[in-house]
Amino acid sequence: MEHAIRRQKILDQMPAGSAFIVSASHAQNRNNDVNYRFRQRSNFFYLTEIKEENAIILLIKFLDGKEKQVVFVEPHDEFKALWQGPQLGPDGAKKILNVDEGLSLLELDESILEMLHGIKRIYYPFAEDKKLESKLREWSGKLSKGKRTESGPTEFFDANIILGEMRLFKSDYELKQMRRAAKASVDAHARAMAMSYPGINEYEIEAELLYEFTRQGCIFSGYNSIVGGGINSCVLHYEANNQLCNDGDVVLIDAGAEYNCYAADITRTFPVNGKFTNKQKSIYELVLDAQLAVIDLVKPGTEWIKLQEAAVKFLTKGLVRLNILEGQTDKLIADKSYAAFYPHLIGHWLGLDVHDAGSYKVNGQWRILEPGMVLTIEPGLYFGSTYTGDYQGIGVRIEDDILVTDKGCDILTAQLPKKVDEIESLVGSGR
Ligand code: GLY
Ligand code: MN
Ligand code: MN
Repeated sequence: MEHAIRRQKILDQMPAGSAFIVSASHAQNRNNDVNYRFRQRSNFFYLTEIKEENAIILLIKFLDGKEKQVVFVEPHDEFKALWQGPQLGPDGAKKILNVDEGLSLLELDESILEMLHGIKRIYYPFAEDKKLESKLREWSGKLSKGKRTESGPTEFFDANIILGEMRLFKSDYELKQMRRAAKASVDAHARAMAMSYPGINEYEIEAELLYEFTRQGCIFSGYNSIVGGGINSCVLHYEANNQLCNDGDVVLIDAGAEYNCYAADITRTFPVNGKFTNKQKSIYELVLDAQLAVIDLVKPGTEWIKLQEAAVKFLTKGLVRLNILEGQTDKLIADKSYAAFYPHLIGHWLGLDVHDAGSYKVNGQWRILEPGMVLTIEPGLYFGSTYTGDYQGIGVRIEDDILVTDKGCDILTAQLPKKVDEIESLVGSGR
């Protein structure tokens, strides 16, 4: 019941006279009576681990310091039960969450106005749920209107600040979920490489990924899979995935499974015919060496931005060595010449969201890595349609998921090969 510990941790940080409100996802209509598959909102899942739609979790610390936790869920609905299966209902939700009260959403307005009486500060995640935001304005207005001697809530605080800081540090339980996502993703990438051959369509490769994700209980991907052959390997968030991968092309796959709402995020690049050309290999090895050098820096005490700076330096030097850039490394870095080929950052936090919660700066200073954080390391070089030299059509990114540990780091996705000879012998081996 880790969600109960998390909620208490939040209450411990709240002053008397405040409330903390987070809402669940709402069903997203696709067309007519067909919805998108329901995926719980990460912040709500973090505090409840339940997959009810429209629910609300409310944590209150009253003026006298007393605390109360309330969950609002859909009441029992026979029609919904027939089409979507049974739901928890207010009593079920109260029991499963071990909170003080479980109430029907039908009572939301009335109950919340009573409970928020005397509350001065409300925390909710900004820019997350328009419905909740407009309700909060409505309730706050009602609580203030016509009162001569007291006001309703006077402050809105962004709940993402507290939630982001907590979500940045993964518990053992969370790491277990993340290792499951990582394993499914490692196996899926290995399968996709093994099944590839010149002439395969990008969507056939995607199918191999999704097969393995699903087979391992990952109903969702953490994000849309990127499968780009040839020049498509240079499109950073390519997702059409419907072109042929021709003999001589590299294929870039950026795909990660989601297990119990926790994501993995892996990229590998390989020659579809099983043999890198010299040009492909020189770019591949430069990116790989850069990735290994940056991973070496992942340990407690390293400033996050130092990882990006190290990648920029390593890649810029390599581009000069390959005569792709000309000039002094320092100057090429200062004027951002490298950005034509390495246009993104080195990575991001990873967890319930692929680009996970948690700020990269604290009080204006770059975040220092600490045990329990999970981040991606994903350098890349891309020679797409705006580049006209010899390397055109080569896009290489290599991405792994890294846990910061007491002594250094643990690569959650280490089982997936990335050395040149390992990749070459894996490609096409499963056919
Ligand atoms: N898959 C998106 C990313 O690597 O950030
Ligand atoms: Mn990533
Ligand atoms: Mn990725």
